[in-house]
Amino acid sequence: MTLLHVNDQSHEVEASDYDSLADVLHERLHMYGTRVSCAEGECGCCTVLMDGVPATACLILARQAEGRSITTIEGLGTSGNLHPIQQAFIDEHGFQCAYCTSGFIMAATYLLEQNPNPTTEEVAEGLSGNICRCGAYPFIIQAVLTAAERMRNQR
Ligand code: FES
Ligand code: FES
Repeated sequence: MTLLHVNDQSHEVEASDYDSLADVLHERLHMYGTRVSCAEGECGCCTVLMDGVPATACLILARQAEGRSITTIEGLGTSGNLHPIQQAFIDEHGFQCAYCTSGFIMAATYLLEQNPNPTTEEVAEGLSGNICRCGAYPFIIQAVLTAAERMRNQR
């Protein structure tokens, strides 16, 4: 058994030597918010936070995540109480098909923790590990800038 700590809850799961963290999130924990696209660590679609730092769940073996604190999109907010970044993506239409969105939001969460008042260029740079195949970048960047402003005003 593998003990995973996901969104402040501990889960004992069966994981083979080859199961990725993304596989286990989907197949054992039924958390489908973490999306897999390239499965090669290139697109950032599957981004989660591991000990607070962005990590690609398609490349991390579940067993490597044992003992680490994993945060997925399900851990950010709830449907009745969205995280400000989630809300800003909705308000600014920061998506088209939305397949990439959870990865962008997790990357943005880290970015705004590191830099609460980023410039447009710093947002673009901070999200450069994430690919949006729909090309919704201007809206995504605006969503992060809006979230940053709202989060600063909450402080
Ligand atoms: S699906 Fe993991 S980086 Fe593309
Ligand atoms: S909104 Fe479709 S891939 Fe980004």
